[in-house]
Amino acid sequence: MDTIRTQFATELKAVQTVKDVEALKVRYLGKKGLVAEQMKRLKDVSDEERPQYGKKVNDLRLEIEGALEKKLHSLESDELAKRLEAEHIDITLPGRSRFVGAAHPVTHGMEEMLKIFSDLGFSIQVGPEVDTDYYNFEVLNFPPDHPARDMQDTFYIEPGMLLRTHTSTIQARFLEQSVPPVRIVCPGRCFRNETISSRSHVFFHQIEGLCVDVGISMQDLVWTLTEFVQRLFGRDVSVRFRPSYFPFVEPGLELDISCFLCSGKGCALCKKTGWLEILGAGMIHPQVLKNVGIDPEKYTGFAWGMGIERSVMLRSGMKDIRELSENDMRFLKQFRTC
Ligand code: PHE
Repeated sequence: MDTIRTQFATELKAVQTVKDVEALKVRYLGKKGLVAEQMKRLKDVSDEERPQYGKKVNDLRLEIEGALEKKLHSLESDELAKRLEAEHIDITLPGRSRFVGAAHPVTHGMEEMLKIFSDLGFSIQVGPEVDTDYYNFEVLNFPPDHPARDMQDTFYIEPGMLLRTHTSTIQARFLEQSVPPVRIVCPGRCFRNETISSRSHVFFHQIEGLCVDVGISMQDLVWTLTEFVQRLFGRDVSVRFRPSYFPFVEPGLELDISCFLCSGKGCALCKKTGWLEILGAGMIHPQVLKNVGIDPEKYTGFAWGMGIERSVMLRSGMKDIRELSENDMRFLKQFRTC
């Protein structure tokens, strides 16, 4: 039995895995194991020695059992320690920051302007970018060969089809299907065949606005547009209206605001004039109302159109309109608003 004990001790030292422990258990404590073999010899032992012999074998069994149990525990806790080490998470590491997108300055500017008009009770409409000569010009009182067509160099797709040069296309498209009162704003992209420079591009965005009802007068136009520009540029800007010409309005006018950089004293932004030109507007021409089946004796209305890029640039101090379409992230990131 002492031999078995020493042999077991040596073998136990060599044990490395749980599987090894199990193999040792079978070899020593199994039914045909070394300890059982000793037990079998009990019958050959004399009667007086038997109880002592039996106790000795039993002690050996308990000793081996205990040692194996201990080994098993230590192997298991080693394994756990290894796993904990391997799966260790360093919670002190700073997290990886995610790239969060933001609205493009033009989109952001457009949304701000639309919000002001929707607060004033206007709803939003859209129209197609590719439209007919009819909606872009003819219905708006630009007959063929009318010199005013030269004010806007047009991209024609085929005879009679073009890329809209202004969002005024929505005027007839919407009025044709409506019975006043009408109060809408229409944002969208427009195209003109112009030389690309820091101040002009072949495409840009406009917001068109339209208000038609019984008894609408210039006073409504003046109040609405003054309120709009003051909500957008600040209450301290002054507003002036200048006569201007667009075939689809009569009278036609342009709205300037006092330069918010120099407060009207004259600087580089306002080219020393003290004023910044913001939008074109006017009372809808009776002929346009007739063209869309609205009685100009009963209804009147006003309309306006403004460039979005221009306002965005004025307010943010951008110098070159091309930067708004080149999508250089380093540039755009400076104007993140959310
Ligand atoms: N469509 C005109 C332009 O693009 C602006 C405008 C709209 C003027 C509505 C008067 C009324 O310049």
